[in-house]
Amino acid sequence: MSSEPAPVPGGDTSGWREFLRAWVRNPARVGAVWPSSRRLSEKLARVAPGHGSPVVVELGPGTGSTTAQVSRRLPPQARHLAVELDPGMARYLQRGHPDVEVVNGDARKLGELLAERGIEHVDAVVSGLPWSLFDAQTQREILGQVVDVIGDTGAFATFAYSHTLPIPSARRFKATLHEVFDEVVMTRTVWRNMPPAFCFLCRRPRPGGPRPGAPR
Ligand SMILES: C[S@@+](CC[C@H](N)C(=O)[O-])C[C@H]1O[C@@H](n2cnc3c(N)ncnc32)[C@H](O)[C@@H]1O
Repeated sequence: MSSEPAPVPGGDTSGWREFLRAWVRNPARVGAVWPSSRRLSEKLARVAPGHGSPVVVELGPGTGSTTAQVSRRLPPQARHLAVELDPGMARYLQRGHPDVEVVNGDARKLGELLAERGIEHVDAVVSGLPWSLFDAQTQREILGQVVDVIGDTGAFATFAYSHTLPIPSARRFKATLHEVFDEVVMTRTVWRNMPPAFCFLCRRPRPGGPRPGAPR
């Protein structure tokens, strides 16, 4: 459990309860029983531009611990979208964050979901997705969508639990990030997160490099 409860709309524990309910419904999709701490969320949110009129997309926002930090950074002209697969979490998130465009949908269809909303390019993607629970194809499929929407100029941030690094699917994900992006920075561990976690901050998809989603 986090030593630092995630902020929840209304300042009560309803966010945690909604999170737990979603985990009970589908643990393999949620991948955590406790929302990210404020410290971890702040690190992730730093890839969101603080000026201009950026478009920022969150994947797997859950009940919104990172959403709150992304919102705090964004300028008034920004567009902030959040793609969440679980309908209950999506409804909860929209109630707590009426200014965010919450999309109840699948990150695997990111390009399509954005095109439906008239968006072709995104300045930053912030992910809370449970990558180590995804198979290789799903990891590459979603990363392929991310690369397509951020292009050469955007940024991508995601996190991993430190204890999962030796797990094959987590190692595979890290290797795929290095294959896909020219720059992959691992932050220090955020110990005040339950469980402790760190971020991957990625930029510049490799030109001509292997495209995720394409057969290997
Ligand atoms: C570990 S939780 C992270 C929630 C939040 N970002 C946080 O850090 O507290 C993972 C979230 O990803 C969502 N998710 C899983 N697969 C998804 C997919 N394919 N598309 C969109 N959301 C997905 C789950 O429903 C869940 O809300």
